[in-house]
Amino acid sequence: MRKILLVLLALALAAVPAGPVGPASARAEHRTTHTITYDQYSLMIDGERVWLWSAEFHYYRLPDPGLWRDQLEKLKATGFNAVSLYFSWAYHSPAPGVYDFSGVRDVDRLLDIAEEVGLYVLARPGPYINAELDSGGYPGWLTTQLGRARTRADDYQAAWEEWFDHVNPIIARHQLTDGGGSVVLFQIENEYDRDDAVYMEELKAAARADGITVPLFHNDKGRNLRWASGPGAPDLYATDTYPAAFDCNRTSFPAVTDYRFLRPGVGNRPFIWGEFQGGAFDPWGGPGYERCRTMTGPTFERMFYGNNIENQFTVHNIYMTYGGTSWGWQADPNVVYTSYDYGAAFNEQRELTEKVPVLKQQAYLVATVDDLRKTDDLGRQPGTDPEIRVWVKENPDTHARFYFVRHANPTAASSNTTAFTVDVPDGAYTPTVAVNGRDFKILPAGYDLERQRLVYSTSEIMTHVGLGGRDVALLHGRAGEPGETVLRYGSEPRVEVRSGSVTSTWDPARGDLRLNYVHNGLSRVRITAGGRAPLDLLLADGDTASTFWRVDTRSGPILVRGPYLVRSAEQHGATLRLRGDTDRTGPLEVFARPSVRNVFWNNRLVRDATVPGPAPVRLPALTDWRYTRDVPEADPAFDDSAWVVADHTTTNNPTKPATLPVLYTDDYGFHYGDVWYRGHFTGAATGISLTAGTGRAGAWSVWVNGTHLGTVRTGTASGNQTSTATFTFPDGLLGADNVVSVLVRNMGHNENGGSNDNHKAPRGLLAASLTGSDTALSWRIQGVRGGENLTDPVRGPQNNGGLHGERTGFHLPGFPDHQWSPVTLPHTEPAPGISWYRTTVRLDLPRDQDVPVGLRFTDDPTRHYRALIFVNGWNLGQYINDVGPQHVFTLPQGILHHQAPNTLVLAVWSDDATTGGLGQVSLEALGNYTFAPANGTSGIP
Ligand code: GAL
Repeated sequence: MRKILLVLLALALAAVPAGPVGPASARAEHRTTHTITYDQYSLMIDGERVWLWSAEFHYYRLPDPGLWRDQLEKLKATGFNAVSLYFSWAYHSPAPGVYDFSGVRDVDRLLDIAEEVGLYVLARPGPYINAELDSGGYPGWLTTQLGRARTRADDYQAAWEEWFDHVNPIIARHQLTDGGGSVVLFQIENEYDRDDAVYMEELKAAARADGITVPLFHNDKGRNLRWASGPGAPDLYATDTYPAAFDCNRTSFPAVTDYRFLRPGVGNRPFIWGEFQGGAFDPWGGPGYERCRTMTGPTFERMFYGNNIENQFTVHNIYMTYGGTSWGWQADPNVVYTSYDYGAAFNEQRELTEKVPVLKQQAYLVATVDDLRKTDDLGRQPGTDPEIRVWVKENPDTHARFYFVRHANPTAASSNTTAFTVDVPDGAYTPTVAVNGRDFKILPAGYDLERQRLVYSTSEIMTHVGLGGRDVALLHGRAGEPGETVLRYGSEPRVEVRSGSVTSTWDPARGDLRLNYVHNGLSRVRITAGGRAPLDLLLADGDTASTFWRVDTRSGPILVRGPYLVRSAEQHGATLRLRGDTDRTGPLEVFARPSVRNVFWNNRLVRDATVPGPAPVRLPALTDWRYTRDVPEADPAFDDSAWVVADHTTTNNPTKPATLPVLYTDDYGFHYGDVWYRGHFTGAATGISLTAGTGRAGAWSVWVNGTHLGTVRTGTASGNQTSTATFTFPDGLLGADNVVSVLVRNMGHNENGGSNDNHKAPRGLLAASLTGSDTALSWRIQGVRGGENLTDPVRGPQNNGGLHGERTGFHLPGFPDHQWSPVTLPHTEPAPGISWYRTTVRLDLPRDQDVPVGLRFTDDPTRHYRALIFVNGWNLGQYINDVGPQHVFTLPQGILHHQAPNTLVLAVWSDDATTGGLGQVSLEALGNYTFAPANGTSGIP
C-alpha cells in the first residue's frame, strides 16, 4: 500500500501539460502608464476611443497553458481585441487559506499570454461567478459556512477577502493603467440581486486596497439598472442578456430589443455588455450543443450583434466564444454535463465553426471604422417599404453616417426591398436595399475610407487598409443580392474591372463614380487617377469575405486571403512572414505593402501562391484492456476503521437532516465526486430507508452484508436533486453484526445565482433509518479530502472523488495492472457496482499538426451504466450511457500526449447485474490542421 502511495505521489507531481504552442515567451518589457477614461460613447485608452469586442474564455475549462495561447491567438485573428476572464475560486482553493496558482492554474502566465497576443482583459474574479460551475465557482469548503453567502456574514466575508487578497495582486500586476499588462476593467460580484450596498462597497474597497486601479463594473442580470448608481455602484454599469434563452430545442426566433431606455440610468458612461449570448448550456439528456450552435448561429449573430452595434454597446462581451470542458468535478449538475462547448463560435476542440464568419465581419468592422465608436441617433428614415426599418446614426465630428437596416418586426423573415434617402455632405441619394429574411445590414455613407471618399454603399464594410501605394477595401453583401457603391473623385478616374461583373458610371456634375454589381464570389475593381491614391475595391459575397484575414504588422494591418487561419504577420525589409493554420492545400493571396517581395508561410517560402495542408493522420484502435471489479467496501469483512466516523449531531447547513447523525458529505470535508458510507448495526431489521442528495442525474447503490440491494437514480428532469428508496433485507442475510454499504455520486453542488445559499443544498446521504427496528446505525464515511493534504496537487481538488480505485491510484499512469484480467470491448458486467478498465495507447501524431482527439462511446442506450474518464490521471469527464447526450469527449492535447504513450482508464459504475458493462470505446481525430508555434510576441497595439 505504501509503495502504491509513493507511486501515486510521484505521478501526481507529473509535469504540467504543454500543448502544441510551446512555452510562454519572456514577459514583455513594460512601458509607461496609461489612462482609461470614458464618456457616453466608449472607453478611451490614452484618449483614443476603443470598441472592446470581447470573448468570454475560461482557462479552467482548458487545462493546458499551451492551448491558452492557441485559443487566444484564434480570438485575436478573428477580430477580437479583448478577452473576458471569470476566475474560478474553487479551482484555486482546496481549503481555507490554501491557494494554488501554478501549473494549469497559473493565471499570471495567462495574463502574460493575453497581453502578448494583443488582447485587452476584462477581469472577473467574483467572488461569485455562476458560470455553470459547481457552487457557481465557490470552493467546496464554502458550502459548510454558517453565514449566508453574498452577505456581510463574518465567515463569508473573511473567506471572500482571503480570495481577493490572493487573486487580486496577480491581476493588479497586469493592469494597463500601471503599464503592467492589458487588464482594462475589473468586475466585482456577478448578477448581485440582494440590496446590500455595504457589501458592494466592501468589495470595491477591497479591490482598490489590493491594488486594482482600472475602472470597476458589475454585471447586472437582466438590464434592471441595479448597481448603476447610488451606494454600492461601481464606476461603470454593465448588464447581460440571453435573448434566445437556453432550451436548444427552440425553433422560434427571438426579437431584438431597443436598449436606449438604459441611457438615463447609464448617463455619461458607455453601454457595456458584461455578457451577451454567444450560445447556450445544455443539460444531462439535453438536445446537444450542435442544436445550441444552430439556435445562436449566423442569423442570430447578424441580427443581435448588429443591433448591439446600433445601440452603441462599445464594450461587447460574447459569452461564450470558446466554452471548453468542465473537466473533473467542475460542472454544476443542473444545467450542464462535462462538455461546455456551449454551441459557441469556437467548439470545444478549438475549431472555427460556422459561427465565426459573421462574427469576424462584425469584429473587423468595429476594429476598422473608427467613426462608429462615436455616433448619435438621427432617428428612423422613412423608405418606400414601411416593413423595413432604416435607422440612421451619425458621427458628430466627421458626419459619417451609418444606416442600420432590418425588418421593422425583427422576427419577420420575408423578402423585401426598400428605397430611402441617404443625406450626406456629398449630396442626397436614394439607394435601394434588399432585406431577405431575418437580415441586418450596417451601411456606410459620407465616410472617409483611407484616402478615398465613400459617398455611400449598399454593401457593408468588412475592412479596409492603406498599403502605401494603394488602399484596399473589402466590402461584402449576401450572395446574389445587388450592390451599389458610390465614390467621390475630383476628376474622372480610371476603372479596371479585374474580375467579376461590375458596371461603372461616371457623373461629372457631382464627381461620383457609381459601381453596380451583384455579390457573387469576388469582384475586383482597380480604380486609379481621379485625384486620389489607387484603390483596390474587393466586392465579395459573405462566404468569400470570410476567407480574408486582417492581420496587424508593425506598420499597420494587411490582408491575407485563403488559409483556414492567419495568426500573425511580420514584415522585415522585403520579406513578409506569416504564421497560420491550414486544413487543406490551398491558395494564399497577400495584400501587403509594395516593398514585400517574398512571403514565408510558417517559415517556408511560398511558391505558386499555394500553402500546404496537413498530412492525413490515423489513430490507433484501443485494445489490450485490463479489467478488475472493485467494490471492496461492500464486503462485510472490509476494514473501515481508518474511515471518518460520521457522528455529527448538528450542521451549519440551512437544510437540517431528517435523521441523525448528519451524513452530509461536505460536513466531513469530502466535497467532490463519490463518497462511500458504511453503517453498522446489530440485531434484526426488516430493511432500510435512505434519501440521497446527488444533484440531477446522480446515482447511488446499496449493499447489505455484501449483497446488492439496488441502484437508485436521481432523475434528469430539471430541479431533480434528491432521491429516496426503501429496501427490504432479503431473508437470512442479517447476522448479529451487520453493515450497510452505500456509494453515492455527488454530481456537483448547485449554483447560488439567487443568493439563497442554494450551493449548500446537501449532498451525500440526507436521511437513513432502519425499518422494523429502532436500532441506530453507526456510520463511517470515506471520500477524497480536498484540504491542505491534497493527494494530487497538480490535478487539484476537483479531479477525484472517493472510489476505492481513486484512493488507490488505479486511474494513474504506472499503476501495476498486470494482475487484472484482459478483456475485449464491448464487455458485459456480471454484477452491479464499480469496475475499472485500463489500457495504454501510443500516439504518433505529427508535431506540426493540430489534431484534436476525442474519445467516443458507442453502445445501446438501454444499458444502464456510467463511466468516469481518466487520461494520464486527469479526470476528463463523465459518460452516462442511458442519459447522454454526450458521447464524444474532447481529450485536450498536453493532457493527452500526441507523441507518446497514454494511459486511458475508465471507472464504470453498472446499475445492475444484467445491463451493465462497457460498450465500444474509440479514439477519433476531430480535426486536422497544420500548426506553427509562436516565436515572437506582439503587444497590445
Ligand atoms: C449569466 C451568468 C453567467 C452564466 C450565464 C449563462 O446569467 O452571469 O455566469 O451562468 O448566465 O451561461
